[in-house]
Amino acid sequence: ALAVVGPRDLTGRRILVTAGGTREPLDPVRFIGNRSSGRQGVAIARAAADRGAEVVLLVANIDDGVLDAHPAGLTVRHVSTTAELREAALQEAQSADVVVMAAAVADYRPETVAEGKIKKETQGDVLDLRLVRNPDILKELTSARRDGQTIIGFAAETEADPDALLELGRAKAARKGVDLLVINRVGWTEGFGTERNDVVVVTGGGDRVTEASGSKSEIADRILDLIVP
Ligand code: CTP
Ligand code: CA
Repeated sequence: ALAVVGPRDLTGRRILVTAGGTREPLDPVRFIGNRSSGRQGVAIARAAADRGAEVVLLVANIDDGVLDAHPAGLTVRHVSTTAELREAALQEAQSADVVVMAAAVADYRPETVAEGKIKKETQGDVLDLRLVRNPDILKELTSARRDGQTIIGFAAETEADPDALLELGRAKAARKGVDLLVINRVGWTEGFGTERNDVVVVTGGGDRVTEASGSKSEIADRILDLIVP
């Protein structure tokens, strides 16, 4: 049988993709996390490799089965906490032409991590957790942008009104200093762990460049179309 081969229009491009969601430990057995499955980020990495790019994929706690088989041209590194993702991303970005920050990064982490398991007996009826802000990896990446490097961020928003959603995305794109921001509506049932997705993409200046609905692999190709010279 003949395999269908698509365009190799990303040949020679070095692309860094982050996928999944970071976890912040509370003690040796517990963490604070989020519901990102890693599907959209992995789909982007896979599509980029299929189109000839040299891809580094940083995965943080993706769902089982999401990365079962992956094409040649894809190097995978596993991380878990935001600190680990940050270190790997800042390092890998130094040699990347394009950075796609699809990972859901924990905004806060526990101020202290318990050495041993937190016990009910010592905590009583209420457990107070104090969380501190994590560094903004995407902002650090755009601040250190190399000449000619393209940086793509993602925005997960629960806003239901399309106009308000777009406004939130525009403000976020400007705040982050990205070249492109992929705005993704999420909710209790949408966005996470699903096979399909709906996105709007804006530039750093807030111009709407594309809208796409479809499978996460179709969305991946539409996003990558935007970085083909
Ligand atoms: N991001 C990051 N480092 C963080 C938080 C977010 O690099 N500490 C990145 C995400 O990977 C994503 C983009 O920033 O590409 C936007 O993430 P999002 O959670 O939508 O925005 P925040 O700036 O964290 O704002 P908020 O969650 O308050 O809406
Ligand atoms: Ca956030």
